[in-house]
Amino acid sequence: MHPNRKKLQDEMAKWQDDFEKRLTDCIGKRKLRSKNVISIDDLSKEEMDLIFDCTKLFKEFIVKPDRKMGLLKGTSQVNFFFEDSTRTRSSFELAGKHLGIDTINISKGGSSMDKKGETLNDTARTLDKMHADVIILRHSKAGTPQMIADQIKAAVISGGDGWHEHPTQALLDLYTILDKKGKISGNKVVIVGDIKHSRVAGSLIRALNKYDIEPRIAGPPTLIPFGLEKVFKCKVFYSLEEAIKGVDVIYALRIQLERAAGAEIPTVREYSKTYCINPARLAMAKPDAIVMHPGPINREVDLRTEVMDGPQSAVEDQVENGFACRLALLYLLLGGDRR
Ligand code: CP
Repeated sequence: MHPNRKKLQDEMAKWQDDFEKRLTDCIGKRKLRSKNVISIDDLSKEEMDLIFDCTKLFKEFIVKPDRKMGLLKGTSQVNFFFEDSTRTRSSFELAGKHLGIDTINISKGGSSMDKKGETLNDTARTLDKMHADVIILRHSKAGTPQMIADQIKAAVISGGDGWHEHPTQALLDLYTILDKKGKISGNKVVIVGDIKHSRVAGSLIRALNKYDIEPRIAGPPTLIPFGLEKVFKCKVFYSLEEAIKGVDVIYALRIQLERAAGAEIPTVREYSKTYCINPARLAMAKPDAIVMHPGPINREVDLRTEVMDGPQSAVEDQVENGFACRLALLYLLLGGDRR
């Protein structure tokens, strides 16, 4: 081995010993009660705080030159994605690998579900018999992660289901608000865009409500479910200019043309004229407001490029925090006395 590599490995081994001690001290007697994370409602506010405390530590780890730890060596993780993904799938896969988990990826194409017609249930039960410890599942149909979790022993984390929820997105979003603003509760938040088809909004509104934030919801009436204010603590605005005034956080959603949103707006150009976050609209928020978006972004439709790439954008921080947050979640779900 090259002497420099050996030196680096020795330094990292020492750092990791110390990191594990700090992680153990940080967690203390706290733990996650639910085996699965399918809805943000599987977590209490205190459990989310625990995840955020660990995320802060894992952010130190992700910038280290040698990011391989055996904290969860001997466990296995299946990433089971039935819809496209860049951020969620890659960050879960890398997080698993960095923690020493044996990680595999399965999609419909190339598995026995495709041409041979094996059902999703039978596929999940088959993987369960290989003693997978955790399955990360993304599916276009709401409720699929719960249906699978009810039949298998492995923990299930939803990577997003239909229009329902995307709980780890909400975790990384709230962590980003905490990181940028120093607190979660007390911030004024506006969520803009296609609320109706957005699983991101489904988890984010629930999560913000846990921290006593009643988000302002802005978008065209056709893209905001009727009666939303009766289900969640929030306030609906059809005028973005009115909703954005004085907020600390602007959260823009993607117009989901693949989920039929196209039929509910006159044209994409008309939507962007009315709801795209541009510099003039950003100027109506607080001067230190941050701009967030779950990605992938339709540039010039959801966010103008000057805003997306500008100093108030937290979009890339969200990606980095998502990685740290998923490391923390996997560690808390599979580590400690869970094994
Ligand atoms: N935000 C999000 O879920 O992105 P991906 O679809 O790339 O995973």
